[in-house]
Amino acid sequence: MKAKLAIVGCGNPAQKWHLPTLHILAKHGELDFVALCDLNEPLAKQTGETYGVPWYTSIEEMLDKHPDIMAVDVVVGDPYHHVLGSAIAEHGKHVMVEKPMALTLPCCDMIIDACRRNNVHFEVAENYFRMPKQRMIIKLIKEGILGDIVRVYFMEPKRQDPFEPTVTHKGLGRPISGFGRTSGMCMDMGAHRLSQLRLYAQSEPVQIAGTVRKYRSDPKSIHEDWAHALIDFESGAVGIYETSRLGEAQKYCQITGTRGNILDNDYFGPEIPLRMLIGEEMQDIPVETVRRNIDGVDVLQRIIVHTDPKIVYENPFRDYPIDDWCVGHASEIMSLANTALNDEPPEYGLGGRKDVEMAMAIYESSLNNMTPIKLPIKDMTSYEQMLHEDYRKKFSRPIDQF
Ligand SMILES: NC(=O)c1ccc[n+]([C@@H]2O[C@H](COP(=O)([O-])OP(=O)(O)OC[C@H]3O[C@@H](n4cnc5c(N)ncnc54)[C@H](O)[C@@H]3O)[C@@H](O)[C@H]2O)c1
Repeated sequence: MKAKLAIVGCGNPAQKWHLPTLHILAKHGELDFVALCDLNEPLAKQTGETYGVPWYTSIEEMLDKHPDIMAVDVVVGDPYHHVLGSAIAEHGKHVMVEKPMALTLPCCDMIIDACRRNNVHFEVAENYFRMPKQRMIIKLIKEGILGDIVRVYFMEPKRQDPFEPTVTHKGLGRPISGFGRTSGMCMDMGAHRLSQLRLYAQSEPVQIAGTVRKYRSDPKSIHEDWAHALIDFESGAVGIYETSRLGEAQKYCQITGTRGNILDNDYFGPEIPLRMLIGEEMQDIPVETVRRNIDGVDVLQRIIVHTDPKIVYENPFRDYPIDDWCVGHASEIMSLANTALNDEPPEYGLGGRKDVEMAMAIYESSLNNMTPIKLPIKDMTSYEQMLHEDYRKKFSRPIDQF
């Protein structure tokens, strides 16, 4: 038996990654791709015709016509994750939402509660840690190759703009969100990076201090263009996160352990720049990748790290024309399919809520002059209250009514 999946939202990320990956997995018999839905009728129709699946403009109609759908992959903008995630769970279907899981922790909890009430599972489409290079890095950390993790850094340039010399920076202002397709930078790429920092540290954050600033005067852009956070992990490790749209682009990821180090200035590239303490000296450790061309796609077969003994990552999708990036999506889609078929918890699930919690702590700390925020967050933060008020103004209804 195969899991029967549908997708809601056929915009940019679905066209580039989710739909082609779903299609390849279905073609190779891993799952059934049953139907798709988008509010935009021409887009739904064209996409349905491209992939040869029935298309709809309403999820109710899609789920009504296809009661065999077991799980739904939701690829719509951030402000609608809690709305569609909860609605699909209320239909008794397992659900996966794109990252960030939802706008605030109460919104995450709406999805979680709807899933609990209806005995279904939820997954979050956090794709970065599922990509081959990241799987190998996390495997090296888990196997103790770097020793105890002491510091983890992630510095993320988004699009780089010059600083405007005349603008003095502001912190978070009102309205706090424009409720566009994606949230602020700490939630957008931040969801990925905070996830990676937590997985690199292999520990839970206990306290975060952060500052979020807006330097550019563009009135269309409400969100921050720069943010910095210091994260204390339970293990004693420290995380340093910076995201920026300003200044020169600098990609910088460093994972420092007591026995080894990964310093990666090209974290989208395939290399794993690993150094380890051998005797008294830090030495470069060769990392080999084996690749094969399948239907014109350069497909990773395995990564071999030449430690003694060797450490090997085998790509579970090595026989399919799926590139390194889409292995992340294939892996999250198969997590949802497995959940639906075997009623097992998905691979990431609550991890998606933790990433939102870390971002909420950064925003809250920034609103409170960088006061460290303790985690787990127990009460609704003032940032979340402001966001919920702004949501009510924008959509003329409370955030939990849809
Ligand atoms: N994991 C990644 O690497 C990655 C990359 C890019 C975007 N994303 C995430 O993907 C999500 C979608 O991104 P986007 O907003 O830029 O995509 P988008 O705006 O290009 O597409 C969203 C689509 O959803 C449709 N839609 C909205 N509400 C709907 C509803 N109720 N029923 C049916 N269809 C509906 C819209 O018509 C649109 O076509 C965001 O949450 C974003 O953070 C993730």
